[in-house]
Amino acid sequence: MTQTPTFYVDKIPIYGDAILAPMMGFSDLPYRSLCRELGSSISYTEFARAEGLIHNMRRVSEKLEYVEEERPIAFQIYSHDIDYMVEAALKIQPLRPDFIDINMGCPTKAIANSGAGVGLMRKPIKVARLFKRLKKELDVPITAKIRMGWDDCQNYKLISRIVEENGASLIAIHGRTREGGRESKVNWDVIAEVKETVNIPVIGNGDVKTVADIAKMKEYTKCDGVMIGRAAIGNPWIFSGKDRDEVTFEEVQKMMSKHLDRNLKFYGEELGINLFRKHVVQYIAPIPTTRRYRRELLTRERKEEFLLLLEQIYENLVK
Ligand SMILES: Cc1cc2nc3c(=O)[nH]c(=O)nc-3n(C[C@H](O)[C@H](O)[C@H](O)COP(=O)(O)O)c2cc1C
Repeated sequence: MTQTPTFYVDKIPIYGDAILAPMMGFSDLPYRSLCRELGSSISYTEFARAEGLIHNMRRVSEKLEYVEEERPIAFQIYSHDIDYMVEAALKIQPLRPDFIDINMGCPTKAIANSGAGVGLMRKPIKVARLFKRLKKELDVPITAKIRMGWDDCQNYKLISRIVEENGASLIAIHGRTREGGRESKVNWDVIAEVKETVNIPVIGNGDVKTVADIAKMKEYTKCDGVMIGRAAIGNPWIFSGKDRDEVTFEEVQKMMSKHLDRNLKFYGEELGINLFRKHVVQYIAPIPTTRRYRRELLTRERKEEFLLLLEQIYENLVK
């Protein structure tokens, strides 16, 4: 059966409309590859600082490691500086990403105030120059991830037009301003407005929590794809069209074991289990009886001990 692509990023066909959002500390190779297998249609790396890539910093370069099965893979980079961004993009292009994504959404003070992340959105002319140069010097498609802007500078339509006119092949938009904290209500109207403004594909993002929300956002905004961040942590099943409350304990157990294996393989034993803990918190959050085991789950040092504890929890649950 030949599948019809849901949309294209330049010439790259994208199959499926739900996409794991880039998330620092979460969307690493182990978790991305799991989500991709379950149906996330693009693998976005965590953001990598252009200067770190230029200087071969191991922890930064590691963010761009991927497996072939993840394709299409998008490398996300950030910086306040056009030259750094172009230099880093040229440097990582031979690693064969399917496209390179420019982060223009990060609200963190240190980043935004330095002019990177959402800080870039305050400088439309710089954005135009950046995309023009990237388009001219690179062979891979360039994409942008933006947000509404700042409370006093909600220029998402202008920025969308600028990146499109200067060669971007896709825009992902998060419907919040820089000041709109994660708890504030997301504005899906801005996603619809961006979709009306540009001809390149648009990915909507913000507060998608269930499988039904994916269809709802598409219907409301007419966006081409839907990016899921927080609701996908500890919940990769959302990409297979299954909500968390439909997932059995055995499935959770199996997934955690698989995820942990990939973490151990990628990071090594100590770091692998350490970095797994924040996923554990989310995997077990909906299981009320695990509260008393939480501490123990978060302090196990070895995979075998960890899996044994999961077994005990399960036996306790079914008893
Ligand atoms: C822990 C965390 C880390 C994030 N890191 C990144 C990042 O590296 N790059 C990026 O573009 N957005 C990052 N984001 C923003 C998400 O991609 C997304 O835009 C945001 O969480 C809104 O989507 P949601 O409501 O589905 O979570 C991060 C968000 C969270 C919660």
